[in-house]
Amino acid sequence: MLYLSFFLNLLVLIGASIYVAYLMETIANSRRNRILYHSSNVREQGAILAETIKRYVPDTEKYVLVEIGAGLARVAQHLKANLGWKDVEAVEIGPVIAFIGKLRFLFIKPAVRYVRRDVFSYDLPTPAVVYAYVSEEILTNLHKEGRLDGRLVIALTFRIRDLVPTEEIPLKSWQNRILVYDLRSAKGVPASEKKANAGNGEN
Ligand SMILES: C[S@@+](CC[C@H](N)C(=O)[O-])C[C@H]1O[C@@H](n2cnc3c(N)ncnc32)[C@H](O)[C@@H]1O
Repeated sequence: MLYLSFFLNLLVLIGASIYVAYLMETIANSRRNRILYHSSNVREQGAILAETIKRYVPDTEKYVLVEIGAGLARVAQHLKANLGWKDVEAVEIGPVIAFIGKLRFLFIKPAVRYVRRDVFSYDLPTPAVVYAYVSEEILTNLHKEGRLDGRLVIALTFRIRDLVPTEEIPLKSWQNRILVYDLRSAKGVPASEKKANAGNGEN
């Protein structure tokens, strides 16, 4: 009985420590102007994301799906399970979140390959579909560095500054929208060019 009580207390202590570390990491991330950890709403967005990706990429066999700023990689997990995607990867910078993320895939199947890395020091594969629920700052800098070129980028809420999205899908929730940037064959249309063309009576 004493052993059981000791073991249960130990479990609670470990759980509480991980949770506090997770909270501290989340706050630290937001201070460094990265982005607060928050999950995509898979219940609302899962089916929309699957349908959107299928329209752009009918054959997922040839593509790697990468969730950048993956958190618990719930979107990668959903798309792997629902689109039968073979090659799915999650990239996350936060050590505590990544620890919990990796731990999940010891129990959840199909598992997603989980990498703890700063996305700015990670070579995104190609061809790839990149799912990103990260800040405008991160997306814009990744684009400026050419790291998104040649990929289909699906962004939740936040845009790539100065780039016209290929498609914008409104959402009912406060996460507001899904933005598609198809950069597979071109670098995309800068917002300034789009405005100039509109002035010339072009679309
Ligand atoms: C808003 S959460 C999104 C979580 C998950 N992708 C989802 O949609 O449910 C953003 C995540 O990006 C991570 N992140 C921020 N900057 C990053 C970077 N430079 N490289 C990798 N991950 C980063 C944060 O730690 C956080 O977990």
